[in-house]
Amino acid sequence: MVSPATYTSPRSCRVYTPRGLADALVTACGVKREATWLEPSVGEGVFLEALKAQGVPREHITAVDLAKEEHHNDELAVTARGVDFLHWSGLEPRRFDRVVGNPPYVPFDELSAPALAVARTVAVGPERGSFGGRANLWAAFVAASVSKLAHGGSFGFVLPAAWDYADYAAPLRLWLPKQFREFRVLRCREPLFESVEEGAVVLLGLGYGQSHTSMRRIETGSLDDMIAAVRCPPAAEVQPHPAVIRPMEGLCLSELMEIRIGAVTGDTNYFVLSELTRKSLALPESALMPVLSKAAHVRIPFVTRKHWSRLRAANERIWLFRPREADVLDGAVARYLRLEPRKGGCHRNRGKVKGRTPWFQTLLPPAPHGFISGMTSAGPWLALNQMRGLSATNTLYTVRFKPRANPRMRVLIALALLTTTVRRQVAEVIRRYPGGLVKLEPGDLNQLRLPPLASRLPRSCLEVRYTEALRMIQMGRETDAQAIADSILSL
Ligand SMILES: C[S@@+](CC[C@H](N)C(=O)[O-])C[C@H]1O[C@@H](n2cnc3c(N)ncnc32)[C@H](O)[C@@H]1O
Repeated sequence: MVSPATYTSPRSCRVYTPRGLADALVTACGVKREATWLEPSVGEGVFLEALKAQGVPREHITAVDLAKEEHHNDELAVTARGVDFLHWSGLEPRRFDRVVGNPPYVPFDELSAPALAVARTVAVGPERGSFGGRANLWAAFVAASVSKLAHGGSFGFVLPAAWDYADYAAPLRLWLPKQFREFRVLRCREPLFESVEEGAVVLLGLGYGQSHTSMRRIETGSLDDMIAAVRCPPAAEVQPHPAVIRPMEGLCLSELMEIRIGAVTGDTNYFVLSELTRKSLALPESALMPVLSKAAHVRIPFVTRKHWSRLRAANERIWLFRPREADVLDGAVARYLRLEPRKGGCHRNRGKVKGRTPWFQTLLPPAPHGFISGMTSAGPWLALNQMRGLSATNTLYTVRFKPRANPRMRVLIALALLTTTVRRQVAEVIRRYPGGLVKLEPGDLNQLRLPPLASRLPRSCLEVRYTEALRMIQMGRETDAQAIADSILSL
C-alpha cells in the first residue's frame, strides 16, 4: 500500500462549513460529558471551534486532515495532519461516540493514483462492495466514518446535493439510514458554498446500531431554515410543553384573532406602486410604506424583510403611496398629488378617497401579525408577519392575534388551520362564484373551529414543521401538508 502522506489534498475540496451549521450539528449529535468525537477532515477547524464553544475538552476529540499545513485551531483537538483519513480509518482500532464533519467533494477520477487506490478499499457497509470508478470521495468518507462509530453513537455530516441522486451513492442511501435509531436527511436549496452551486444535504443519524424507528426528510430554502431544522430535537427527547397539560380546546378562530380586510385605498392604480414606478415618479421612500397586495405575495409561512425585498426586486406592487405631512413639501410628492386622473393622478371623487382627511392617507388596519388570502382554492393559511411596518391592501386579509395567542401559539394556530378537521370545515363554507372564483370571507374564517391546540414541540420546531407543510402546499401536495399538521396537533 502506498504511504498516505505522499499525496496532497486537491484544492477543490477546500470549502468550509458555516459556523452556525457546525454549532447546530454538534448540538444535535448530543454533547455529553464523556463522549469522544472524531472530525475526519478538519480543514480550518470550524467543527473544533463549535466543540470548544460547547466545552468539549481537546483530549476527547480526534481530528485528521490530509493537508499538512497546520492551522491554529489544530490545538483544539488531538490533530493528525498529512494523514489520509480513509487509510487511517482502516488501521485505527478505536470507535467514537460522535463523528461530525464536511468531507472533501472530489470525483474519484480526479484523485491521484495512490489516493484512488486507498479510496477503492473502503466498503459501503459490512459485507458490501467498494465504490465504483465514478464515485466521489465524500461517499467513501461517509462509509469510513460510520465504520468508526461506537454503539449508540451519532453522526452529523454536511454533504453535496448528490447524496439525493448520485448512482454511486444509491447503496449508501439504502443502507445508512437503517443503521441508526433515528435518521434525518435535511436538504437546503440555497448553496452553502460558493463553489458548490447545488445546495447541500445534512445527514443526522442518532443511535447507531440501535433498532431503527424513524427516518425523516426535511427540505428548507435557506441556510437559516436548515440550521433551525438541524436544531429541532428528535420527538422522543422533547419535554412536554406546559400547553399539553392544559390545551386550548376547540376554539373558534375569532376567539384567537381578529381578521380584517387590508387597507382600502379607493384607487389602487394610483396608490399601489411597484419599485420602478416609484423611481420613475422620483417619489422618496419616506412617502410610501411597504405592503403586500396579492395572494401570491403570501404563499409563504413567514413574511420577512428579505421576502418583501425580493418582491420589490421583482417589481411587484409592494409600495403604498401614503405621504406624511412632511413629505408633501417634497417636489415629486407634490407633483404626484396634483397629477390629473387622465394622466395617472388620483380619482379623488371616488367615495373612499373623498371620505377621508387628508385624502391621500389611506386608513390602515392595526399593525398585522399575519396575512391570509381569502381567494385561493388551496387555502386558507397564515403567512406570519416578521417585518415591522408592513401592511396589506384589501386583496388580502390582515390578522391581529388576541393576547392569549403568544408567538409559539401563533405557529400552532397556523398549523391547526391546515389540519384535516379544519380543511373539512373549509370545504363546507367556501364560496364558489361563477367563473371559478373561490373565496372565503372574514366571517367564514372566524367560524372555523380548531382542534385542541396542544403540542409537545417547542416554537423553533413548530416553525420548521410549518415551513415544511407550506412547502407541500406550494407543490400542490395538500394532503401531505395536512398529514404534517395532523401529526403535530396530535403529538
Ligand atoms: C470540505 S473541507 C472541510 C473542512 C472542515 N471539515 C469544515 O467543515 O470546514 C475538506 C477537507 O478535507 C481534507 N481532505 C481531503 N482529502 C482528504 C483525505 N483523504 N483525508 C483527510 N482529509 C482530506 C482537505 O484537506 C480539507 O481540509
